[in-house]
Amino acid sequence: MAPEERTEAAALLRSFERRFLAARALRSFPWQSLEEKLRGSSDSEQLLVDILQKTVQHPICARHPPSKKYTQSFVLELIRKHEAVHTEPSDELYEALAEVLTAEEPSQCHRSYVLPSGAVVTLAESTAIVSHGTTGLVTWDAALYLAEWAIKNPAAFAHRTVLELGSGAGLTGLAICKSCHPRAYIFSDCHCRVLQQLRENVALNGFSLQPEPRADTQRPLVTVAQLDWDTATTPELAAIQPDIIIAADVLYCPEVTRSLVKVLHRLSICLKDRVPDVYVAFTMRNPDTYQLFTIELGRAEISWETVPPHNRKLFPYEEGSETAMLRLRLEHQHREAWSPSPQGLCTEAEPVSCTALHHVKS
Ligand SMILES: C[S@@+](CC[C@H](N)C(=O)[O-])C[C@H]1O[C@@H](n2cnc3c(N)ncnc32)[C@H](O)[C@@H]1O
Repeated sequence: MAPEERTEAAALLRSFERRFLAARALRSFPWQSLEEKLRGSSDSEQLLVDILQKTVQHPICARHPPSKKYTQSFVLELIRKHEAVHTEPSDELYEALAEVLTAEEPSQCHRSYVLPSGAVVTLAESTAIVSHGTTGLVTWDAALYLAEWAIKNPAAFAHRTVLELGSGAGLTGLAICKSCHPRAYIFSDCHCRVLQQLRENVALNGFSLQPEPRADTQRPLVTVAQLDWDTATTPELAAIQPDIIIAADVLYCPEVTRSLVKVLHRLSICLKDRVPDVYVAFTMRNPDTYQLFTIELGRAEISWETVPPHNRKLFPYEEGSETAMLRLRLEHQHREAWSPSPQGLCTEAEPVSCTALHHVKS
C-alpha cells in the first residue's frame, strides 16, 4: 500500500472505530468511502478484517458491548457493502454475523468514547433519547463539545473543584476527571434514575464514590449529588464553593433555562471567596431559547461572553448539529430578591415547551 493510501485507510478505520464504540447512527458512518476503498483495494478482505477488529471485535466491545441489534445491523451493512463489490461472500463477515446472532443480549447497552491519551470513557446509556421521562440517560453533542474544550484547556480544571449541573450520563465529567486533574469533581442532577446511572458510570470508569484515603492525589475526589435547581436550599448550595461550574445541553426549553439561571444566581449569593467561571455548552436548536437564556442572565446581572468555537475533531458528533459555548462570570451578589421572568412574559422566546423539546431533540 502506498503511504498516502495507508494514511487514508487509517483515517477510515479510526472513523469506524469511534462511531461504532459510541454506537452512532449507522447512517453517519463513512460507507461511501469504504465502498470506494473496497473497489480500489488489492486486499479488500484485509480491510474488512481490520474494520471488524476496530468495531465488533474491539476489546472494549467485548467488555462493554453495544446492543445486539446495533451490532447485528452493523455487520449486515458491512456484508451489503462487501457484496456490492465482490461476488464471493466473505467468510470473516459471515462468521462475525454468526457470533452476533448467537451472543446473548447484553443487560445494558454501552457507549465508549476514546480520549486523546488513549484512555476511554465507557458509559451505560439508554438506547432511546428519552427514557424514564428524562433526556439524561444518553450523551448529547453539547457534552462531547464541552469535554473536547476541557481536554484542550486542562488548566481551567487542574487542581480545582468543579461543579457540573445536569450531568446526565456523565461523559463530560468523566472525560475531565481522566484528562484534566481536577482536585474534586461534583456530578449533579435532579433525576433519580439519572443519578443511579451516573453512579454506575462513575464506578464503571474506576472512580470511587466512597471517601477513602487518597494515596493517589492525582485522582480527583468524586461525588454524585442530587441537586435540583428549583429546590436546592441555600445551605446545600453554600456548602459547594466551586472554582468552576459547567453544564452541557441544559438550555433545551424555557422552563429549564429559567431554572438554570435561578440556580446560578442563588449560587452567586452563596459565594464566599471566589468568582467561579461558568461554562455552558449547548446545541443550537431554537435560537429563541438561547435568547431567553441571555435575557435571563441580564436580569440576574450575570455577565457572559461567547467562547470561540473549537474544531469538533475528537468525538463522533451528530451530522449537522451546531454546538456553542458561553462563559459566564459569577460575581458575588447580595440581591436575594431577583426571580426569573414569569412564564409567558418573554413572548418572542417562548414557542418551545419541554414536551415539544423532545421532538426537537429527536
Ligand atoms: C439533555 S440532558 C443533558 C445531559 C448531559 N449534560 C449531556 O449533555 O449529555 C439534561 C439534563 O439536565 C437535567 N436537569 C433538567 N432540569 C434540571 C433541574 N431543574 N435540576 C437539575 N437537573 C436538571 C436532566 O435531568 C438531564 O440529566
